[in-house]
This record gives sequence, structure tokens and C-alpha cells, in this order.
Amino acid sequence: MRHLIPEFEKLKERLPKGLDSTLVLPCLRRIQEDRGYIADEDIDGLVEYLDVPRIQIEEVLTFYSMLRRKPIGRFHLQVCHNVSCTMRGAERMIDSLSRRLGVQPGQTTPDGRFTLSRVECLGSCGTAPVVMVNERYHELQSEESLEQLVAELERS
Ligand code: FES
Repeated sequence: MRHLIPEFEKLKERLPKGLDSTLVLPCLRRIQEDRGYIADEDIDGLVEYLDVPRIQIEEVLTFYSMLRRKPIGRFHLQVCHNVSCTMRGAERMIDSLSRRLGVQPGQTTPDGRFTLSRVECLGSCGTAPVVMVNERYHELQSEESLEQLVAELERS
């Protein structure tokens, strides 16, 4: 994370003095964007840089499910399994993706291409079922449309 410190310094400049600890979340998001996940050394670096207790960073990491502590695949398929999505077939879609990719939710394919995750409400219940691939929403999905989507991702 050391190479990101000039960016973090710019964020600090926008804050009143004494509020550096509020940068934990934006710094973690930027580190994840850069590395793909938050490593132990990143936490150590932030503890030192922001002068915050390690527990404060651990709390943020455990609260926000979008923050990852281990590497994931190039394509992160996050399937919502809350009420609206489940009522419209999310569990069948998860099973189907699981069979297609040969992994269980929470796992990454051996080639490092796909990670499959079961997630809570993605905030798009009106267009359920919803799947996120990296930062992009795919709404009103079905087993068939996901089959097509995975095939497209495999070709890219
Ligand atoms: S229940 Fe799936 S997006 Fe809200």
C-alpha cells in the first residue's frame, strides 16, 4: 500500500485536522481496487499510517462484505439470495452456476477466472434476480441468461 500514500495524502488534505481515522474505509477500498483484496501487510501499513488501532480496521473489514481478505478470480459472480431474488429463482441460478463452474459459493475456479459468491440484497429487488459481475449489475437474470453470460466471460 506504500505506493498509494500520495493518494491518501490528498484525501487527508480535504479533512479537518484530527479526523484521519475516518479514512479507514476509503483507504481500504482503494487498496482493494489496487491489489484485489486486503492483505495483512495492508492492515499493518494502515495502522501505522493512520495511527489507528488494528481493531478499528478489523471492524470495518468484517462489517462490509464487499471488502475481501483473500484473492478472488478475475470475474466475481455475486448472486443475491435475499427474498425477492430467491422467490424468482436465485437458488436455482446458484446451483446451476455452481455446476457449470465446478465450484461452491465462496470458491474460485482452479484457473483463477471465476469466483462464485452468495450475497445479501444488492438493492435492486425490483429487477430480481440480480447478479453482480465485478462492479456491474446484471438484472432480471435466469439460468439461461447466466449460461450465456458465463460463456461470454469465458471468451473474453
Ligand atoms: S433481494 Fe436481491 S436485490 Fe434485493
